[in-house]
Amino acid sequence: MHGAGGNTGADDARWLAAAARLAARGRPLSRPNPAVGCLIVRDGIVVGRGWTQPGGRPHAEAAALAQAGDAARGATVYVTLEPCAHRAGRGPACSDLLAEAQPARVVIGQRDPDERTRGRGMERLSAAGIAVATLGCPASRASLAGYLTRAERGRPHVTLKLATSLDGAIATAGGESRWITGAAARAHVHSRRAMADAILVGGGTWRADAPGLDVRLPGLEARSPRRLILSRSIEAPGIEVLPAPQAIAGLDAVNYLYVEGGAQTAAAFLAADLVDRIELYRAPIVIGGGAGAIGDIGLASLAAAHGRWHLAERRQLGSDTFEAYRRQGQDQPQDGN
Ligand SMILES: NC(=O)c1ccc[n+]([C@@H]2O[C@H](COP(=O)([O-])OP(=O)(O)OC[C@H]3O[C@@H](n4cnc5c(N)ncnc54)[C@H](OP(=O)(O)O)[C@@H]3O)[C@@H](O)[C@H]2O)c1
Repeated sequence: MHGAGGNTGADDARWLAAAARLAARGRPLSRPNPAVGCLIVRDGIVVGRGWTQPGGRPHAEAAALAQAGDAARGATVYVTLEPCAHRAGRGPACSDLLAEAQPARVVIGQRDPDERTRGRGMERLSAAGIAVATLGCPASRASLAGYLTRAERGRPHVTLKLATSLDGAIATAGGESRWITGAAARAHVHSRRAMADAILVGGGTWRADAPGLDVRLPGLEARSPRRLILSRSIEAPGIEVLPAPQAIAGLDAVNYLYVEGGAQTAAAFLAADLVDRIELYRAPIVIGGGAGAIGDIGLASLAAAHGRWHLAERRQLGSDTFEAYRRQGQDQPQDGN
């Protein structure tokens, strides 16, 4: 097809994966909208790229089309999420913008579960004579993990972070936990905070450590997310208190939640089956007789513990090891960023 980008499945998957990487730039500031990525490709050359802007507008497709101008006509558009069909006060529907721009093809990484669009975006493109392909694209799903978890499970995507010694302690017996890991691991934690819409700690950690729960990376200070405490008793001005892990379902504009412990809180989220990803920082120290990382989760047998978590990522951060584990589940959207 003249003027189009890739025509093979492998090309399509490659361009969509690139669009998913662009989408990561929108996270989390696009909230409450999903962070979407879009590439417009003509004869193998990128003529437009866009990602959802802070506050959710412009959408990725609008930004990419503005960049491509007339070059979009006859090109291939790669977009991680089905172009929206609803005409909002804040801007035109992306499917209308695309219909007007007349690319030859639109390749979509993930159908939109939002009722206002679901299938309608694709229909509008087809009606405008544009070829539409939907690819089951893991990279697109991963880049939309927060949005999809909210749509499919009615709650944010939850990452549980733990920093432990070699013997699995998160603090000494006396409650000292600063610092178990080194500077590189702690900076990594701050970069993960910057990717979340909200951070949560338990009442015990709040009382013991009075954690700042902010982002202390140069240039990213403004990216400190909303702060939450899990507690049945605390009243803290300026901070939201959740009375139970299940209350996360009611959090407005939170697609990604980062839970930082401690042990009882980690257990409460795990027992309620509300953890999608575990991020474990392990320092080469032995504490011995320290505070265990996770409290009682009501495990019935050892067999029930197996097969639930799968290694997604492993890397070295200074002298510490970082491992991310994803929850095993049918078509579970994974946080790939
Ligand atoms: N190394 C690490 O990664 C790391 C991270 C965080 C903390 N820590 C350490 O961990 C220790 C604190 O851990 P912890 O287990 O004692 O405390 P925690 O998990 O931080 O907090 C326990 C408190 O959370 C609230 N809570 C727990 N489950 C609940 C539920 N199902 N519903 C409502 N509220 C619930 C209760 O708060 P209320 O009592 O207020 O009602 C409970 O007392 C500290 O020593 C801290 O330094 C280490």
